[in-house]
Amino acid sequence: MWTFSNPVKVQFGVDVIDSIGDIIAGCPYCLVTYDEPFFADISQRIARLAGAPALTINNISPNPDFITLRSSCKQLQESTSQPTLIVAVGGGSVIDAAKVLSSGGNGFDPVQSFLETGNNVGELTTIPLIAVPTTAGTGSEVTSWATVWDTEGNRKHSLARPELYPSHAVVDPNLMCGMPRTLTVNTGLDALSHALESIWNKNSNPVSTNFAVNAANEILEWLPKLADDLTNITLRERIARAALFAGFAFSNTKTALAHSLSYPITLQHDIPHGLACSFSLAMVMRSVTGFSESCDEGLRRIFGQDLEAGADRLEEFLVNLGVSVNKAEYGVSDEEWRSMIDAALAGERGRNFIGSRDRVYEVFG
Ligand SMILES: NC(=O)c1ccc[n+]([C@@H]2O[C@H](COP(=O)([O-])OP(=O)(O)OC[C@H]3O[C@@H](n4cnc5c(N)ncnc54)[C@H](O)[C@@H]3O)[C@@H](O)[C@H]2O)c1
Ligand SMILES: [Fe+2]
Repeated sequence: MWTFSNPVKVQFGVDVIDSIGDIIAGCPYCLVTYDEPFFADISQRIARLAGAPALTINNISPNPDFITLRSSCKQLQESTSQPTLIVAVGGGSVIDAAKVLSSGGNGFDPVQSFLETGNNVGELTTIPLIAVPTTAGTGSEVTSWATVWDTEGNRKHSLARPELYPSHAVVDPNLMCGMPRTLTVNTGLDALSHALESIWNKNSNPVSTNFAVNAANEILEWLPKLADDLTNITLRERIARAALFAGFAFSNTKTALAHSLSYPITLQHDIPHGLACSFSLAMVMRSVTGFSESCDEGLRRIFGQDLEAGADRLEEFLVNLGVSVNKAEYGVSDEEWRSMIDAALAGERGRNFIGSRDRVYEVFG
């Protein structure tokens, strides 16, 4: 028995952003984006198509944290213009911040309280959201949660509510052509992690695995080529679609051990999310093979019959992209690593992992 569902209406293609006027359809909207010239240009393009925004919130920084989100929510709460729609233009940080804003029409306090205690759900708002991703990685345009970072408290939270699915995802590969190599690789690897983590996952189902297999095969084949040919629109299109498919896959399963391990590495060692959640993928794969027929079958559709050799190939793929698979390169000591593994297995995402603690210890050292 299994179910799969995802309510997001996707519009995909080069220059599909030009249809956003029809989607916004005259609603007073709040534009959420980064304070950078490229994003100001996209904002102007949207304003030409849909009219000027009722409010612009552009104080978003990578890995949105309590401090900036509080100030973003204050801007929304104090605005006299009362937007009825949020349009998020940016990477996962912007789309996740927009999900917090969707919930935070009464300010950030109820959101923080909900994140820390699960209470105050009645004080959360739900402002509909259109997501326009400009990175090909997080899949946040088709998931119902946002990663929220409490840097002072040294904690990562997930704001998860079914109401947070965007109503529309407008995925335009043209908007991704300006991403530099490192960002392209890191975000592409985040998408690969989503695909694989949805396969070695207690919540996997045939539809999520199908999306994941397709996404992983595409990323393994095309990401290295894109990394050497950054303005190739056909390659951008392929990786944008793969990241979207990986998003569909993990929208129904959530992530697992590699993500659970990544959060303290990002918080304590400032390693970008896509890198932090992908350098351990080959290790996780070695630890999980043989545990579940359906997982092994999904992995064989990506890596071939010999999964040992497949894990070696995955490691080689990472190394060839310039990603070290050695934790020490990320500033993680042996002692820290052991406690990170314990915490990762016990964490909310780690508990989705189908492998065993003993085998993880054997492989991870
Ligand atoms: N909600 C989810 O389902 C989900 C899943 C995975 C990750 N995340 C979260 O998403 C965040 C990471 O998002 P991200 O990896 O997309 O990066 P990001 O949104 O943090 O952006 C990183 C940098 O990339 C730049 N950038 C973005 N698009 C660009 C473009 N087209 N051209 C040039 N520069 C561009 C931005 O200026 C920014 O400084 C993390 O906080 C992570 O935890 C969320
Ligand atoms: Fe991720």
